[in-house]
Amino acid sequence: MQIVKNSISDLNLFGTAYALVASYEMGLLQAIVKNPNRTASWYTMESTSVDVDAVEKLLGILWTLGVVGHDPGKGDYWISERFSFLDDILPGGLLSDIAIWVRMKEYAENGEDSFDYDTAQSRDVVYEKKAFTVEKLYRDAAIILAKNLKPAQEQVLEIGAGSGVWGRAMIEALHPKVSCTVTFLDLPQVIAKTQANMPPKLTDRCHFVACDYHHIDLERRYDTILIANVLHLENPPDAELLLQGWIKSLLSSAPDAQVVIVDSFDMTDPIGHALYKVHLGMRHKGGHVHSMDQFTIWAQSAGLKRSHMIQLGDPEVIKAMVFRR
Ligand SMILES: C[S@@+](CC[C@H](N)C(=O)[O-])C[C@H]1O[C@@H](n2cnc3c(N)ncnc32)[C@H](O)[C@@H]1O
Repeated sequence: MQIVKNSISDLNLFGTAYALVASYEMGLLQAIVKNPNRTASWYTMESTSVDVDAVEKLLGILWTLGVVGHDPGKGDYWISERFSFLDDILPGGLLSDIAIWVRMKEYAENGEDSFDYDTAQSRDVVYEKKAFTVEKLYRDAAIILAKNLKPAQEQVLEIGAGSGVWGRAMIEALHPKVSCTVTFLDLPQVIAKTQANMPPKLTDRCHFVACDYHHIDLERRYDTILIANVLHLENPPDAELLLQGWIKSLLSSAPDAQVVIVDSFDMTDPIGHALYKVHLGMRHKGGHVHSMDQFTIWAQSAGLKRSHMIQLGDPEVIKAMVFRR
């Protein structure tokens, strides 16, 4: 019977969750991230109240899950390549991302978010620290987008640019066939860093605008507005208002222009989707995973139809939706 067949793996779900929680709560995971290549007894030597054999078994679970690497000969453990990559690209590193999950019970009790995202000023401070590490994660996806976005783009506006990874790929991937100019727009401290990080050889094809995206004044004509991983920061009424405002002012000067939204819309993995909703909610109360249908309805009432979707490879959940007349 299927129910009998699944029962052991269902039980393992709780075991897995608690193994991860225990290794974090006792500081084992943190010790491995900070001091790789030590044995279980080294990791436990500071604590008087742990049992090395039991810790070794717990580490065995983390090993089979792919969280840690292990050399059975020497007895050493280290953070695995996969998790070390996450440590590199997650804003604040792996441990600060886990620290968000740790608040799950508290979040369920009071619905409070953990970052101050309410004003443009506070977002400027948060994103000046957090918007840049993900560049590595999105670089390949950004190149796929740039190469597949037809017609080739000449004047692009990237709203909420952060590291500028998406716009930068447009300049680099299309050069020298198309002379593409990108205007990167973000809050003042963030955009100063976007500009500082841009390779000097590209800067003659970049403009940097410090602006709150609630008050954009499109003073030049754009072929494309690019909005990557931004609208999920806004609750549905605000996201609708912003998107429609940007589309209407874009179309008033460039009727053939297009809008490209990059985000994790309708995830095919239901667990990933449910977890993402909670993660976003814990980070930011107004955060919302808007669906493709929702974006289509909002764009339509501002004058653009959904044209097509572009798969961006890895990470698999990130996709681009293109809207045109
Ligand atoms: C999740 S990050 C995405 C960054 C980048 N587009 C990417 O995909 O990596 C959201 C960006 O939107 C910017 N942002 C948030 N609120 C903003 C506002 N009111 N005006 C301008 N930019 C804002 C943040 O500073 C941040 O760089």
